[in-house]
Amino acid sequence: MKTILTGIRSNSEITLGNYLGALLPMVRLANTHSDEYNINIFVPDLHSIISEVDGNLHQNTIRSLKYYLASGLVLNKNVHFYRQSYVPAHSELCWILDCVATMGETSRMIQYKEKSKGQDSCNVGIFNYPILMAADILLYDAIYVPIGEDQFQHIELTRNLATRFNNKFGDIFTIPAKTSDQVKFMGEEEGVRVRDLINPEKKMSKSTLAENSKIMMNDSPERAKKKIMSATTDSLGRIKFDMWRQPGVSNLMLIESLIQDEPLQDVISSWSGETRYGELKKKVAESVASLLTDFQSKLEQISDDEILNLLEEGESYANKVANSKLLEVQKVFGLR
Ligand code: TYM
Repeated sequence: MKTILTGIRSNSEITLGNYLGALLPMVRLANTHSDEYNINIFVPDLHSIISEVDGNLHQNTIRSLKYYLASGLVLNKNVHFYRQSYVPAHSELCWILDCVATMGETSRMIQYKEKSKGQDSCNVGIFNYPILMAADILLYDAIYVPIGEDQFQHIELTRNLATRFNNKFGDIFTIPAKTSDQVKFMGEEEGVRVRDLINPEKKMSKSTLAENSKIMMNDSPERAKKKIMSATTDSLGRIKFDMWRQPGVSNLMLIESLIQDEPLQDVISSWSGETRYGELKKKVAESVASLLTDFQSKLEQISDDEILNLLEEGESYANKVANSKLLEVQKVFGLR
């Protein structure tokens, strides 16, 4: 059985961008495909430590797994929860893939360029980040990886590494689907990039300091509504989906379509010819507020013990699968 796999770092609370770009698509796919695929949901806690972490990483990890249940994930025997650092094969395969990847291709990663920009010295983990991500994916024969558009370049790198490896050593890795096919599988027209509410040219990001730029999933519904109502739009006075010329208005329609699970084209058509931005904002503010109300009340009902039990089963499964793939890889190098 092939695998659908995703991970969200647990450094802090997540944004509406994380939720709509990765978490909700994973839950929707899991709920419709867990008969035919393994559904691997893990916390990349080793990826978290590329930036400064406080002493709460362990607890935040448990909390971030609760998000999936709070978003309606239906559990069954094919759904597996685990933590990256509890499956040592991830780090081991990362090192081996380091010896397959080139400096040139890894240096081209946009996330690395952005995160290292302006820093006098940047830690090696930031550079190595996509190789560990490739290991996360390749250990489990993952074919679909629900992620936001900002991570697509890392999937392409994973595909390149796996193809190079297989050409040299035989068919050991499953090559994840092309990002264009991943998007289709998820029923989207293109990769999801939820924009910053104040500067809609940029993506909504946890690390942005301006609070009104982002909706956090623990914002009170009232606060979130205010943020949507004060989102930047434009002075063109027509509601049209055009990410280049009207990114603010387009972002609001995108958020609405993702929350309501309604095709973007339908949302665009329903606002076509309208001119009142305030009305659109009110509609989206209501959708966001009711999403947060529901999510937060479900979150409070999930206990740590429930997650710890799932982790026990999931980590035993993950270690078995990952160690067996790792052994195949070690053998071709003569390490075993
Ligand atoms: P992280 O925690 O930085 O982001 C988690 C997910 O949220 C998506 N995302 C967005 N999607 C749409 N609009 C936005 N504004 C937005 N902001 C963030 C990201 O694309 C991501 O899918 N590298 C991964 C973690 C990871 C991983 C993996 C994922 C490590 N190994 C293996 C899948 C498979 C990341 O970006 O985490």
